[in-house]
Amino acid sequence: MKEGPISSTIVPMECCPIFSEESLPNHLLEYESKLKSIDETEIPGRDYFLHYKNSILSLCCLVEGEILSLALDYDHALRMLDRQNLSYARDPLKKIFKSKKDLESPIVEIGTGAAKDTMHFLALGFKVKSFERNLPIHLINLDAKMRGLDPRCLRLELLHGEYQREDVKSHWVYFDPMFIHEKNRSAKSSKSMQIFAKLLKDERAEVDFKKLFEQDFYKLILKRSNKQKAFAAVNYSVLGKSVCYDVFTK
Ligand SMILES: C[S@@+](CC[C@H](N)C(=O)[O-])C[C@H]1O[C@@H](n2cnc3c(N)ncnc32)[C@H](O)[C@@H]1O
Repeated sequence: MKEGPISSTIVPMECCPIFSEESLPNHLLEYESKLKSIDETEIPGRDYFLHYKNSILSLCCLVEGEILSLALDYDHALRMLDRQNLSYARDPLKKIFKSKKDLESPIVEIGTGAAKDTMHFLALGFKVKSFERNLPIHLINLDAKMRGLDPRCLRLELLHGEYQREDVKSHWVYFDPMFIHEKNRSAKSSKSMQIFAKLLKDERAEVDFKKLFEQDFYKLILKRSNKQKAFAAVNYSVLGKSVCYDVFTK
């Protein structure tokens, strides 16, 4: 019998407001039934909305009385990572995947977010299958992928919604949840962190981790800040400057 989706603590935003200043491209039209078209007069006071202009989709969010806007640029992100030319010693993700250059199956990422880690995996030469349950966040990623000219973008599969058991079974799984201290981000944080802190304020990282931990993965990597305690007994951890990657094996 085919297994159903794993239930979530979060009810995804079903209908996302969009202010479009031009006709939507096909990749966004596919989501038309989940989008609610608004005009400029309907923006004031909204917590968030999508904005389509100059063929770029941005996520706009009201944070402390100011509208912050975020659009992603995969080509730029990959160029920046290429320039860093990170060594095994300095790049914790590279350390974890050392000698796994031949990994045939994709890394399954739970939560695309602003795709910083996704781009990191692509820059390291891996394929990524990335799930994002938050519709506006998924759509700015889908738009960035469609605009991406770098051929490595073709190694990325973006999916909207929750993963199924079969998706994670026997795979390397990567999870970078929003922790409570990250939700109290100040104006000093990056724009994406401030937007995510507001949009994802109801997420419970530990609950999501527990569900994932019960799955039949090959290895699970949990990214957490050094300030955050591990969620479970780890097989090993790799330390970065301010983050830590816990690796769990079944
Ligand atoms: C902290 S952000 C990830 C940031 C990302 N690693 C980056 O480098 O930009 C966490 C993301 O995971 C998503 N998420 C959390 N649990 C999820 C789940 N079970 N399925 C799909 N997406 C999930 C959230 O909606 C959010 O966008």
